[in-house]
Amino acid sequence: MADYTGGGQSYPYTRLRRLRASNWSRNLHAEASLSAYDLIWAVILKDGHDVKEPVEHMPGVYRLSPDKAVEAAAMAQGLGIPALALFPYTGTEERSPGGGEALNADNLMCRTASAIKASVPDIGLICDVALDPYTDHGHDGLLEDGIILNDETVDILCQQAVLQAKAGFDIVAPSDMMDGRVGAIRRALETEGLTDTQIMSYAVKYASSFYGPYRGAIGSQNVLQGDKKTYQMNPLNADEGLREVALDLQEGADSVMVKPGLPYLDMVTRVKDTFRVPTFAFQVSGEYAMICAAAENGALDREKTVLESLHCFKRAGADGIITYFALEVAELLAQPA
Ligand code: PBG
Repeated sequence: MADYTGGGQSYPYTRLRRLRASNWSRNLHAEASLSAYDLIWAVILKDGHDVKEPVEHMPGVYRLSPDKAVEAAAMAQGLGIPALALFPYTGTEERSPGGGEALNADNLMCRTASAIKASVPDIGLICDVALDPYTDHGHDGLLEDGIILNDETVDILCQQAVLQAKAGFDIVAPSDMMDGRVGAIRRALETEGLTDTQIMSYAVKYASSFYGPYRGAIGSQNVLQGDKKTYQMNPLNADEGLREVALDLQEGADSVMVKPGLPYLDMVTRVKDTFRVPTFAFQVSGEYAMICAAAENGALDREKTVLESLHCFKRAGADGIITYFALEVAELLAQPA
């Protein structure tokens, strides 16, 4: 009789390639998964009608007028994308030192949210709470003698968040990095009876060069004075990001975000492992532009690289990803394998 004893947990008895040997086995043993439900589609808006204007450095991304955004929302919903994150292009005429357009109840963001909710009521809508699309200096807060004023900015952000929630946004996402803003916004929403509005905090947001194409997309590129290092985080810091998350949760955030995405995946994992709360990552404009540029010059396969990048977010622990690729990827995922 053959002797079946012996062996153990090492080679040649353990061969990890066994599980990788065929497509069905790789699928069966995949630890993470990606579906359209994981995607939040980042969409840029521009005033007007029937506008679909290409964004520089972001092939496949367009500035959409409200009517086009409604069509986009319907398409997204049809593919299972749960939510859209909207961002407004604002020309220099509508910008001012105090960013007053942010508090115009009839501004582009509010009008678009109402229009989408009127015809695609079941899609989630997310908006930034920050002043950068509306200030003539391009900063997220009020600027006085070269300093970004914290508490004065927070007062305005509270009003902005209330206005946005009333216009139909389901999730307000403070992206400004002022101290104390999440708690203040939560109190403002409660006071207004907006108890079901979610706060997704841009908790771990770095002062990053990867935002370059976005600033062009929303019209901030040539207006931004200086940099955002006095309020956005230093890319060298990780522990500080955990403090940011702890505070935002304490102040009433429902979910938190790490931004940018791929270069900061360590933070996605640390935040998820530490707090076990809904954790999102933003694959920002510069990440989009890099993949597109490499695909256009033939260095990378666009489809495969995009999918891999999103798989990596899921493996790292993200519950979802805000990405300009959302529609394209949802279409891919809808195709039979
Ligand atoms: C504004 C904001 C930025 C992004 C989202 N909201 C840029 C910035 O903080 O300067 C970046 C998005 C992207 O690059 O895709 N607070």
